[in-house]
Amino acid sequence: MKPIEKIGILTGGGDCSGLNAVIAGITKAAINKYNLEVIGYVKGYSGLYDNDFIELNTDTVSGIQHRGGTLLKSSNKDNLFNYRVQKPDGSYANEDVSDVAIENMKKEGVDALIVIGGDGTLTSARDFKRKGVPVVGVPKTIDNDLPATDVTFGYNTALEAIVDGLDKIHTTAYSHDRVMVVEVMGRHTGWLALEGGLSGSADVILIPEIPYDLSYVVEKVKQRDRTGKNFSVIVVSEGAKEKDGAVHVERVVEDSADSVRLGGIGRKITDDLEQMIDNHEVRYTNLSYLQRGGKASQFDRMLGVRYGVSALDLLMQGGAGKMVRYRGRDITSVPLEDVVGSGDTGETSEGGAKYVDPDGQMVQAAKGIGINFGDE
Ligand code: F6P
Repeated sequence: MKPIEKIGILTGGGDCSGLNAVIAGITKAAINKYNLEVIGYVKGYSGLYDNDFIELNTDTVSGIQHRGGTLLKSSNKDNLFNYRVQKPDGSYANEDVSDVAIENMKKEGVDALIVIGGDGTLTSARDFKRKGVPVVGVPKTIDNDLPATDVTFGYNTALEAIVDGLDKIHTTAYSHDRVMVVEVMGRHTGWLALEGGLSGSADVILIPEIPYDLSYVVEKVKQRDRTGKNFSVIVVSEGAKEKDGAVHVERVVEDSADSVRLGGIGRKITDDLEQMIDNHEVRYTNLSYLQRGGKASQFDRMLGVRYGVSALDLLMQGGAGKMVRYRGRDITSVPLEDVVGSGDTGETSEGGAKYVDPDGQMVQAAKGIGINFGDE
């Protein structure tokens, strides 16, 4: 097989802080250690389809390690195995256009890809690998719901944003004796709400893994009133659901690999609590995209660079078809075939997304200090 002399990088799915650290890590190591040429496809896989790329070198990646977002831009609607294309008669249809992408790689002399993204992006990486493209994956998501890795980059910065938001919410909650409902992201898992809420001194945390009954939440608010704490802060994961209830779907994005977008459950909980509590005003804040932006935390800068350099080493040492992962404090790797496919359902070949264990240490620690989960 031809030796690897030129690589392409792309970032897919929702953005998060730390993406630029990965891009910088790969590019600098590619030049310093292996003397490779590097290009970055613009807007994820659609850049690969349109052959839209920029050259990456030590100048283009200089000073980006801490910056939020992605230098290469991103898209979460670009599954080239089921891509929306315009037909000559002006109509649209979904088609497998992966061969166009492979032709574009050949045309530019790109020998291999490093793909940075969450489940949808890594699923496409696996499908390109099945077609013979040498590809290595890097796991990204603020949700931290990929089972094959202890932690994804972007998660830590999102937690910092949640804790910062909760610190601010506390002062206004106290001043007005209010009940404050704060919605956070996380898709079908409650990691952001749990770890963010625990660190940010929430009184109630509602997560998908523990369906809630609001009467317990009201009881918790009353109990705080009795001890003179006349305000309460409730953190709600976007995927939280009532006992016997369903998740709150905000919209469905048909041409996305992860088509279901959650959001808005915090508004519903606020409306419901207003009917159930008469001695406090109830207010709602959705931290939303504030969790995805901003400069990367120290941890995500470190993890991003390490992921980038390790992904490149893996590729150069014959590890195509794998994804780097963080286990303990080391970066190891795992076949893409074993880790992808959670999509909207939470099902993966490893047996499901990485869910919070309701009996696990983190939930028990939170319960131990009196945080209520709406279940008792
Ligand atoms: O997976 C990352 C994430 O930020 C989720 O937490 C959230 O549900 C989703 O992406 C939002 O996606 P979009 O950028 O399409 O609104």
